[in-house]
Amino acid sequence: MIKTLTGRNILDSNKNRIGEIVLLDFPYTNLQGSKVRPALIVGTSDIQNDLLVAFVTSEVENYIWSDYAVAFEQSNLQEGIIKQNSVIRCDKLITISPERIARNKVAVLKTLKISEVLRKIAHISVDGIYNKIHQPSTFIPGKSRVNYAGRVFDEKEIVNAVEASLDFWLTEGRFSEQFSEKIAEFLGVEHVLLTNSGSSANLLAFSALTSEKLGDKRLKPGDEVISVAAGFPATVTPIIQYGLIPVFVDVEIPTYNIDVEMMRKAITPKTRCIFIAHTLGNPFNIDAVMQLAKEHDLWVIEDNCDAFGSEYKGKKTGSFAHLSTISFYPAHHITTGEGGAICTNNPQLAQLVRAFRDWGRDCYCAGGENNTCGKRFSQQFGNLPYGFDHKYVYSEIGYNLKMTDIQAAIGAAQIDKLPHFCERRKENFKEWTRIFEKYPDYFILPKATEGADPAWFAFIVTLKDTAPFKRDEITAHLNAKLIETRNLFAGNITKQPGFMTKNYRIADHLNNTDYIMNNTFFLGTYPGLTKEMFSYVEDVLDSFLRSITKLH
Ligand SMILES: Cc1ncc(COP(=O)(O)O)c(C=O)c1O
Repeated sequence: MIKTLTGRNILDSNKNRIGEIVLLDFPYTNLQGSKVRPALIVGTSDIQNDLLVAFVTSEVENYIWSDYAVAFEQSNLQEGIIKQNSVIRCDKLITISPERIARNKVAVLKTLKISEVLRKIAHISVDGIYNKIHQPSTFIPGKSRVNYAGRVFDEKEIVNAVEASLDFWLTEGRFSEQFSEKIAEFLGVEHVLLTNSGSSANLLAFSALTSEKLGDKRLKPGDEVISVAAGFPATVTPIIQYGLIPVFVDVEIPTYNIDVEMMRKAITPKTRCIFIAHTLGNPFNIDAVMQLAKEHDLWVIEDNCDAFGSEYKGKKTGSFAHLSTISFYPAHHITTGEGGAICTNNPQLAQLVRAFRDWGRDCYCAGGENNTCGKRFSQQFGNLPYGFDHKYVYSEIGYNLKMTDIQAAIGAAQIDKLPHFCERRKENFKEWTRIFEKYPDYFILPKATEGADPAWFAFIVTLKDTAPFKRDEITAHLNAKLIETRNLFAGNITKQPGFMTKNYRIADHLNNTDYIMNNTFFLGTYPGLTKEMFSYVEDVLDSFLRSITKLH
């Protein structure tokens, strides 16, 4: 007997009955009569030991098309015999008192089948929650926010999250495998390792290049790494954390990507790596970067966190460099809440990223697996005794930055929407262009890098120095009207309190970076933006600019 919080009792024996098929006077759906029918016990109640049962029928053809029909046959039974193959209708449920059962335990389903049925019943609630609770609310101009980013999802993401929760595997599992395979296929890369954030992905990609296993090619403290100061800190912090020196190159306006000529001149014999992001989804000049890397034997890491789905010369960004990274934070192209991934075509780098991600361990067995190399107890490592368990051999100074299977399950559903999301981002970018290009005297509009087809993370605007208003005036006005804007992340990172005292080098000057720090802002392009939102922002912008120009 289980005592519930309300003081009522549920019979333990009732709990044991879940999965039992009984015979029951089951009402017709239209309630015009009833008939003795088989039914499956799927739940217990805390009220008078009632039971929740699902309708079972042998009219397989009539229902099998439905998502909520679960077919079963003799081989799915743990006990008893059925004369015909049947379906359980997970949508056709009633609560009954046990006394209403005409015949108990006609048969019992095997656990796997019961699990399938109970999961489908859970999906019905998920559908209800999604359709009732998570529908976007109607946009009311001036009252609703125009966010710069946000999650866009449907019931499939929640169903997957629930499925993973019901599996209760929790750490990397079947959904992680599914999600990483889908990413690999989408980008056209060989290896994808999931992690708990885009920042962790950057840290791991960089860590991998510090491994002694890379011999002379490894990155060492004091080496120089080319980067930019106009970006997000997570692209720069691993360089500093490992004692290397970021060399900041200025960016171009209006691509907001690295100035290739300045980068060329910034290279010294100490330069070992280029670590830069595709700014706000706009690919940097990949040909120039990869060519320079080839000439000087440099590692390249593409921070693809803001550009998942962008293309350069017909190929996806994130598939060019030695390593690339993705973020699944809700602002990004797809989300798992927190989350990230590292991608590479190089099996050695993949193995190193895995080692750094998983405590520094040498063994590469997936969770729950053992001895996949067949040499678990027959190798020599370091000064350990011969045959020391490979599972507990640590060849790197690592972390634990893995993703959970629940996050991966959400990602596995989100990524199916990515091509559509990218199209929407491109359309939204066009819509902002139409709205802002009316004011060529005030704004410099963003421009895709030559050869690139960006899945824009945002619409980035820089004020011309002749504009009769300041960036902070227009963004304050937009924000007061509930229209979210953002600056280009850290502005000039060398001026940030945490960075200004660190060891870095400025390649030449950061004039554009400084200009961006003071005069640039962006609006979102995320797929949740609607026509109504665009026309509201257009009105707000037009009237702001009309009032400003009247004053001048
Ligand atoms: C370019 C870039 N790299 C890395 C990150 C870090 O990603 P996360 O927030 O998942 O740690 C971000 C974050 O938005 C980013 O914009």
